[in-house]
Parts: sequence; structure tokens; C-alpha cells
Amino acid sequence: MNRLDDDKIRLLLVDDEDGFRKIITKRLAKRGINPFQAASGEECLNILEKEPMDVVVLDVKMPGISGIDTLKVIKQEYEKIQVILLTGNVAVTDGIEGIKSGAFDYLTKPVEIDHLVNKIRQAFEIICLEEEKQKELEYRAKLEKKMIDTERLISLGTMSTGIAHEINNPLAIINESAGFMKYILSSSEMSNIPRKDALMMGIEKIEKSVKRASLITHQLLGHVKKQKSLLSNVDILSLLHETFGLMEKDIKDKQININWEIDNEKNIVWSDPYQIRQVLMNLLSNAVHALKENGSITLSTREIDDDIILEIKDNGVGIPRENLGKIFDPFFTTKSFDEGTGLGLFVVHKILSGLNGGIDVTSTVGKGSCFQIRLPKYDKSNG
Ligand SMILES: Nc1ncnc2c1ncn2[C@@H]1O[C@H](COP(=O)(O)OP(=O)(O)OP(=O)(O)O)[C@@H](O)[C@H]1O
Ligand SMILES: [Mg+2]
Repeated sequence: MNRLDDDKIRLLLVDDEDGFRKIITKRLAKRGINPFQAASGEECLNILEKEPMDVVVLDVKMPGISGIDTLKVIKQEYEKIQVILLTGNVAVTDGIEGIKSGAFDYLTKPVEIDHLVNKIRQAFEIICLEEEKQKELEYRAKLEKKMIDTERLISLGTMSTGIAHEINNPLAIINESAGFMKYILSSSEMSNIPRKDALMMGIEKIEKSVKRASLITHQLLGHVKKQKSLLSNVDILSLLHETFGLMEKDIKDKQININWEIDNEKNIVWSDPYQIRQVLMNLLSNAVHALKENGSITLSTREIDDDIILEIKDNGVGIPRENLGKIFDPFFTTKSFDEGTGLGLFVVHKILSGLNGGIDVTSTVGKGSCFQIRLPKYDKSNG
């Protein structure tokens, strides 16, 4: 381990002999390690309740709670702390019992300071390795979950776009037939038929439902047909302006503030403007919908390596934790029949995956949501 890391070690030195503690503390300090001190097992446990520690150097023979009992409590309550025991030179059995109870190692008194420092470093190294291992495990679990989510969405996507495609034809026929029935019903020969109004209402209901179903199939199929050849330099800033232009009425009605924190130079990507416009439209309309009057939307961009990150943040209603895992699913919506289909974010996710980008979300109920879109600056598929 690097000696430069010595000052990061949080060490607690526990010994009832004041003189011994002072000398060891001074010598450790000279080597860049500044320990906390405790004069008994009780004091040691009190300190551990308040201060996070990495390594405890613990005298075995102490009045009150013995070193071994203190060790047992430490190992039970603070799994990650490594303990080095200090035993009298005739009491090797204490050391062995200590190791059985989970001590990292033991040293016999009188202690050779460099030997102690080496042991402390070794113990700290183990802690660091374990932390790294833990982090890697967490990272892997997160990655796996993301992969499963993505795979699930991809297969749902394939299935639902397939269905959308199949449904388009019958929908067109239903719509045409409804229109034809309306036409016949409006002719003079039908002017006196009984319950004409009820029939007309029924046809209009059919037309309204067909319209909604078409909206769904168009959302699903809208981006599928687009070819790679449509890639060009996309200026995210002007696309955002364009998209807001389409939503001007809602923004004015709700008196929404837009905060622009966009770096003029960091918002150009080589991508498909048509698809990105759809992504922005879907995300911004969600943000506007989530806001009450006088709410605000903050837009910012930044660059990370070869990616541009666009952040769309609103201070609206927020998304409950239990919904966060579902919002990218097709047809998940908390909106009423007239307000939403639940396809907006699903399509956003699908488009961004197709463009080698991605999306992340953080949200707190009552405080707002933040969607982060990642887009590669260049077309990675062409090298
Ligand atoms: N900015 C946001 N703030 C709060 N909730 C949001 C936000 N964006 C999405 N949601 C939640 O995620 C759900 C799914 O969003 P999504 O855009 O996929 O569908 P939708 O908006 O309900 O319908 P549409 O298909 O018309 O977009 C929403 O119903 C809403 O509950
Ligand atoms: Mg939406």
C-alpha cells in the first residue's frame, strides 16, 4: 500500500496505560498516522458509536471490559473494522483466542513501532480491497439489472411494434367504414329513421376510439421507418426552441419559466434530428404536464468524453419511487384516457438505445424530476 495513504487510515488506539498510549501516538504521528485514543474498552465502544474507524489497535489486558470482549463486540457491530490486538509477551494464548474471535492479527508488547505500522497498513489494505470488491459487486448488480431492463424493453418493443403494424390496417378499415356509415346516415333518405341521434353518437364514439388507437400505433411505428441515412449535425438548442414552439400555448397558460443553461458550443451531435425531436417532444410534454402554474423547467447540457448530456429538470409533482421502474414500460401511465397513452417514455428509451445513447431519471415526489439524456457526439457505428 502507498505510504501516502497513511493519513487516510482512521485508527483508534485503545490502551489503559496513559504513558504507552502517548508514546505510540507520538510515534505513529511521526509516520503520518494520527490515531484517536481510548483508555478502556467502554471508551472504545463509545467512540465507535460516533466516529467511523478502519482499524482498532486494542490492548488485551484492561480493567473493565477485556480486550477480547471488546473485540467480540466490535466484530459483531462493525464488521468492516479490522482489529490488531496487543498482548503481553507471556500471553500468546490471548492472541490466538483473539484471532479465533476475528482479530486481524496480534502483536506482543513491547511493540516495535515499524512492525505495528506495517500491520496497520496491511489491515487497512484489506479494508480497501474489500470496499473495492463490494463496489464492483454493486456495480455489476446494477449493470445486470439495467441489461435485464433493456432486454425486456427491447423484446416488449419488438412485440408491440409488430402488433401496432398489424393493427394499422384494420384500424384504417374501421375508420373508413365509420365514415361511410356517417355519410349514409346524413343522407336525406335517412332523415326520419328512428334513433338516428343515438346511431350517430355511436359512430362518433367509434371514430374517437380509432383516433386514440391510431395515436398509439403512430407513436410505436413513428420512429421505426426512419433510416440511418437521416443522420446529420443536430443542434439540440434549436431543436429545443422548435419543440417549445409547438407547446407555446400550454407553457403560456401555465406561466411556466424556462431556464436555459445550455452551453452554445456543447449541444451539437451527429444524429437523427427527427428522432431527437420526438424525444424532446415526449420529455418536454411530460415536464409541462407535471408542472403546476408558475413551475419551471431547467435545461442544461454538458460534455462527458464523447457524449453530450442534456438534462431536463422540472419542479413538478415528481414520480413515486415505486413507479420509477415502470415509467419506461409501454402503456404505463398515471394519466387519464384523454391525457396520455403511456408510450411517450417507452418510445424515448427505444429511440435513444437505437442512437447509441441512453436515459436516466431521478425524481422526488413533490420536488420534481430530472431526465438525463446521453447522446454520442459522433456516429459510433461508423467508427
Ligand atoms: N416529468 C415528469 N414528472 C412526473 N411524472 C412523470 C414525468 N415524466 C413521466 N412521468 C410519469 O411517467 C408516466 C409515463 O410517461 P409517458 O410519457 O411514458 O406516458 P404518458 O405521459 O402518461 O402518456 P403519453 O404516451 O401521452 O406520453 C406518466 O404517466 C407519469 O406518471
Ligand atoms: Mg408522456
